Amino acid sequence: MEKILVTGGSGFIGSHYLKRLLQTDEMFEVVNVDLLTYASNPANTNSFEKDKRYAFRKLDIADTSSIISLFENHHFTQVVHFAAESHVDRSIQSAEPFIHTNIAGTYTLLQSARKFQVKRFIQISTDEVYGSFPVGRAEENTPLNPQNPYAASKASADLLCQSFANTYDFPVIITRCTNNYGPHQHREKFIPSIITACLQNKPVAIYGDGLQERDWLHVADHCEAIELIRRKGKLQEIYHIGAECTISNREVANRVLSLMKRDKEQITYVADRLGHDVRYSLNTAKIQTELGWKPKISFTDGIEKVVDWYKNQWESCL
Ligand SMILES: NC(=O)c1ccc[n+]([C@@H]2O[C@H](COP(=O)([O-])OP(=O)(O)OC[C@H]3O[C@@H](n4cnc5c(N)ncnc54)[C@H](O)[C@@H]3O)[C@@H](O)[C@H]2O)c1
Repeated sequence: MEKILVTGGSGFIGSHYLKRLLQTDEMFEVVNVDLLTYASNPANTNSFEKDKRYAFRKLDIADTSSIISLFENHHFTQVVHFAAESHVDRSIQSAEPFIHTNIAGTYTLLQSARKFQVKRFIQISTDEVYGSFPVGRAEENTPLNPQNPYAASKASADLLCQSFANTYDFPVIITRCTNNYGPHQHREKFIPSIITACLQNKPVAIYGDGLQERDWLHVADHCEAIELIRRKGKLQEIYHIGAECTISNREVANRVLSLMKRDKEQITYVADRLGHDVRYSLNTAKIQTELGWKPKISFTDGIEKVVDWYKNQWESCL
């Protein structure tokens, strides 16, 4: 029976992943380790908290002695590592928590997982590690070129994973995904922040000219890809995950405003984010051909349902 450690399972993507994992009838044990930082929402795990296969431990992944005793107690066979400081703007204000969690935390997990002979370690990473891609798409072997402290901390973690694979033959797989959207995302992130501004009748602030392009993937599609990789992905490989459909921030804001029945005039363009990457884009042919994954939810369908979800959740409390 697999004993799976999921880190960051009380955050946005990790909680969707846990829900997806626990929807099956399979027998396994899963422990969610999360420090419950400001970015988490303990309510994200409400729907599966009573499942006997599930346990929660509040821990800092960079706390070496606690993590070692966790591994001693649970004999994990697999790790799916989501926990991170994840907001670029915060990393520009102060990189220290990003270095602590994303780099030191990942190192602590790698050391413990290696010591206790984990069979699979899935590092959840991001397209941001390649830096800006004004044209074309990054391949899995494109050199890393991170341009902000968040991206640099994730790239550092990825490099540590690769170094463990190379040096110790450690069984790691790295996934790099594009921007996610979906229910339960923190209010500071782009799409929820637009919805919040609409519900509060405040201006919708967009950085610079709003022409920066991102590829948006529904979180359910991302979690399905991760689950496939956990089961069938080849060790020591990198897999890109994305929708291969870039769209400008301005266009995303316009679509959300239209779904919220608001006027485009509500947008206000503010001073650009420092070092703002113009465009991210990934080639996802590898996961499509090797593992048969492709996204199921188009942005047009997904965003409509997601806007409705936030409206229902927040209308009465904002
Ligand atoms: N959100 C995206 O668009 C996106 C895209 C690609 C990749 N990713 C990656 O996916 C992962 C999850 O992203 P998310 O958007 O769900 O993030 P999130 O900020 O919503 O959740 C992160 C979780 O990690 C926990 N955490 C933070 N520091 C910790 C520590 N020291 N010890 C234990 N737990 C800690 C937080 O409490 C939180 O629950 C991250 O690694 C991120 O880099 C995110």
